[in-house]
Amino acid sequence: MERTVENNTVGEEVSSHGAELKGSSFDFLTQPGADLAAKARSFHAWAQRRVAHGVFPYAKRLGGRPGATAELTLLNGQRHAGLNFSSQEYLSLARHPKVCAAAQEAMERYGVHSAGSTALAGNVEEAVALEAELGELLQTPEVLLFPTGWAAGFGAIKGLVRESDHIVIDQLAHNCLHEGARAATPNVHLHRHLDADHVERLLKRVRQRDPHNGILLVTEGCFSMDADSPDIARLQALAHAYGALLMVDVAHDLGCLGPNGGGQIELQGMLGKVDLVMGSFSKTFASNGGFVASHDRAIKEYLRFYAAPNTFSNALSPVQVAIIRACVAIVRSEEGAERRARLMSAILALRSALTEQGVTVLGHPSPIVPVMLGHDATARVASREMAEAGLLANLVEYPAVSLNSARLRMQVMADHTPELAETAARLVASSLQRARAITGETR
Ligand SMILES: Cc1ncc(COP(=O)(O)O)c(C=O)c1O
Repeated sequence: MERTVENNTVGEEVSSHGAELKGSSFDFLTQPGADLAAKARSFHAWAQRRVAHGVFPYAKRLGGRPGATAELTLLNGQRHAGLNFSSQEYLSLARHPKVCAAAQEAMERYGVHSAGSTALAGNVEEAVALEAELGELLQTPEVLLFPTGWAAGFGAIKGLVRESDHIVIDQLAHNCLHEGARAATPNVHLHRHLDADHVERLLKRVRQRDPHNGILLVTEGCFSMDADSPDIARLQALAHAYGALLMVDVAHDLGCLGPNGGGQIELQGMLGKVDLVMGSFSKTFASNGGFVASHDRAIKEYLRFYAAPNTFSNALSPVQVAIIRACVAIVRSEEGAERRARLMSAILALRSALTEQGVTVLGHPSPIVPVMLGHDATARVASREMAEAGLLANLVEYPAVSLNSARLRMQVMADHTPELAETAARLVASSLQRARAITGETR
């Protein structure tokens, strides 16, 4: 499908704007009506209009490996090749020879299917070895594997927390954590993002009102939309003081940050000191999968039976287990340190080049580099302009972030060179400038 306004002047393009730059997916969550399919159809019509105008950068198809450069096809059939900052491949391990060889060997030994949940007969011997190796990396020995990180976050919360218990959770925590909290109990207390004083006030109030039930405090090591981190030591101390357990989601920092790959928990001197660590293998460890780690064997065995996505879902396949084990071994080796160093050089080059271009970058150095695009309409156009200019990066807009604080979520990998990062920064700045001219937004 063609862009409707091809080779147009900026002025003509502005006047043609309509529904594709307005509204959000949130509008379609609250539609009244008895016809469920009709609700889906009204969303689809809105999304299709965006697709037709090239401003629906979702559900893209990858044309090859998710490397530093890649080829992506949009839903409208447009193909974009360019610098790839849209894949979560932080240590560039997806084509590592040792990782691929491990996958091949596992396939030959076990075939490709686990054929059961971990609660029944789906765990291969290597899965038990993976749990132990991950426990060593985290210095938190009791590890339970899940089919995905989302399942681990949701399952750990729903598996541990009962209706009468309480959850205190960062308002910007990942969807799997909020969904798990909502499913577990009506007693969900949101705290302001990273605000430990607010956490303390909430814990105090909940404990005063209810001394008889449990409290789970939930946060992330590196927040996925803002690239910032809480004070983990303070949160853990508060949890202990008020008889709560702390759970930290380390999906975006484990393996790729910290001198030994221990992520934010290691950077903050808290390795082995956090009650519950939950994470995903889908960012650094080149595979689907997730885990929950604790010091308490009883919690692991309890979750095996009460965390439904573990109990009632097929275990990781033997091939996935072998891939993750090979990645954990690299993360813990000198090569891992060298890859983390390369990753950090690219992150710092990207952040400083963007800042030099006058573009606002959020958070702290991490593989996620959130770039403020601002108004949702401008962000949609900027995202299209970037893809056409050869820069592939994901747009994040309302309701995933607050209204008109849309951003580009650039994800950096070890194979990005600083030069490539600088080129990407120039493409972001020029595309954003062009988008502002198109939508008429003044800064
Ligand atoms: C913070 C966080 N937790 C959990 C997940 C879910 O991980 P997975 O992709 O393994 O389901 C994600 C993935 O986007 C995430 O960003």
